[in-house]
Amino acid sequence: MLKVESVTKKFSGLVAVKDLSFEIAKGQIVAIIGPNGAGKSTAFNLITGTLKPTWGKVTINGHDITGMQPYRIVTRGVARTFQTTSLFDQLRVIDNLMIAYKWRTKLGFWNTLLHLPSWKRYQERAFARSIEVLEFLGLTAKANNFIPTLSQEEQKRLAIGVAIVSKPQLLLLDEPTGGLIQDETDRITELIRKIRDEQGITVCIIEHKMQMIMGLADRIVVLNYGEKIAEGSPEEIKVNPDVIEAYLGGELNA
Ligand SMILES: Nc1ncnc2c1ncn2[C@@H]1O[C@H](COP(=O)(O)OP(=O)(O)OP(=O)(O)O)[C@@H](O)[C@H]1O
Ligand SMILES: [Mg+2]
Repeated sequence: MLKVESVTKKFSGLVAVKDLSFEIAKGQIVAIIGPNGAGKSTAFNLITGTLKPTWGKVTINGHDITGMQPYRIVTRGVARTFQTTSLFDQLRVIDNLMIAYKWRTKLGFWNTLLHLPSWKRYQERAFARSIEVLEFLGLTAKANNFIPTLSQEEQKRLAIGVAIVSKPQLLLLDEPTGGLIQDETDRITELIRKIRDEQGITVCIIEHKMQMIMGLADRIVVLNYGEKIAEGSPEEIKVNPDVIEAYLGGELNA
């Protein structure tokens, strides 16, 4: 589904991502791990068009999306969440989903502008899908709440919902459990598994929590100083000497 080929990103004087290649097959959960500043979020920005690669190529289902505008990459079925949540505090939960649906589907823009005859049907579809996602997230009872009244975990769940409301093929999650405690992390992990199993969405996840990743990911890509230092199954990564060195041993045994 996703193919990243020799992608490099240079900022003035710093190579944030260096000659990175990896692939994600449909139906997989792939994790990207690595120490702080390893280039993980930059890799997501290069895939989603937020940043343009200095060189290299990104394809989705064989279509070249390298350097495309982010909104065009979204219509190719790639959705993401950010390391910090990006919800509209002044809007209710249901409206955050409705707006995301409209922004992320092609029909949305012209329909919203011109109120075409198909507008009503489109509006109904957006509403129905938003309700469906609320149920999936376990947030039905919070549909009319404003965002600041939600717990941190609920906000994280909703941010994931906003990303999947348009039924993407590939979902990129940047530290979806950052700042959460163990119980909350376990529930988000379960939600991510359900996104793959029940919504049929392929997942790529950046995470620091090793125990979580080892239990969730089919494959792991390890970055260090912008370079891929290892790739493999959780079992292979756990015993890889380069990975253990990058993490100084401790964390991997957590
Ligand atoms: N827009 C930018 N301009 C200049 N340097 C940047 C920019 N974005 C990222 N960097 C640098 O690129 C490197 C990789 O950053 P990145 O955010 O991708 O790391 P990360 O692996 O996501 O780290 P973390 O685990 O802390 O989130 C860092 O040294 C960072 O300071
Ligand atoms: Mg990051």
